[in-house]
Amino acid sequence: MKYRESNTGLPTSTKILKVNHAGEFGAVNIYRSQLFLANIFMKDLVPVLEDFLADEKRHLDVFWQEIQRRNGVKCKSYYLCGLGGYAMGFTSALVGRRGIMACTWAVESVVINHLHNQIEYLQSKQDVEALKAVQDILEDEQNHRDTGFQSGGANNMFYQPLRCVISVLTEGVIRLGMR
Ligand SMILES: [Fe+2]
Ligand SMILES: [Fe+2]
Repeated sequence: MKYRESNTGLPTSTKILKVNHAGEFGAVNIYRSQLFLANIFMKDLVPVLEDFLADEKRHLDVFWQEIQRRNGVKCKSYYLCGLGGYAMGFTSALVGRRGIMACTWAVESVVINHLHNQIEYLQSKQDVEALKAVQDILEDEQNHRDTGFQSGGANNMFYQPLRCVISVLTEGVIRLGMR
């Protein structure tokens, strides 16, 4: 999705910050719910999921700081993202470790695609602070995606429907937030 000047309501940069902030709350909840199940059934995955969760909490703060600096408020979809994230993480973890990694890979792939387009837009607008926030999280998200890939989350046919649903939902919620 190309990011363009918004002709209604908030400027696009502000929308980007709010949508990303809500998305990070979704991500925090994905990893929270996966950790809940991993603590019972997949103890070996706990350290990596704890690392992911710590990253997502930091991302949440990065966007919130910048939103507050602009006297902004949370996105309307903030709690919906949290709930959706929790449900998505929980469902994928019920499928097992491959489900967890398929979820990570699918979510982060969609997110990274958006981050690149956001960076392009914010560079063109010379919105240095928003650009800094988006660039700040890119490497972590790439690391999450690559971990998902290396752990077999991207290539098992059996998990294709799960990846598909997760991609569509993630893409949908971002687009909805940007409207
Ligand atoms: Fe994140
Ligand atoms: Fe992430």
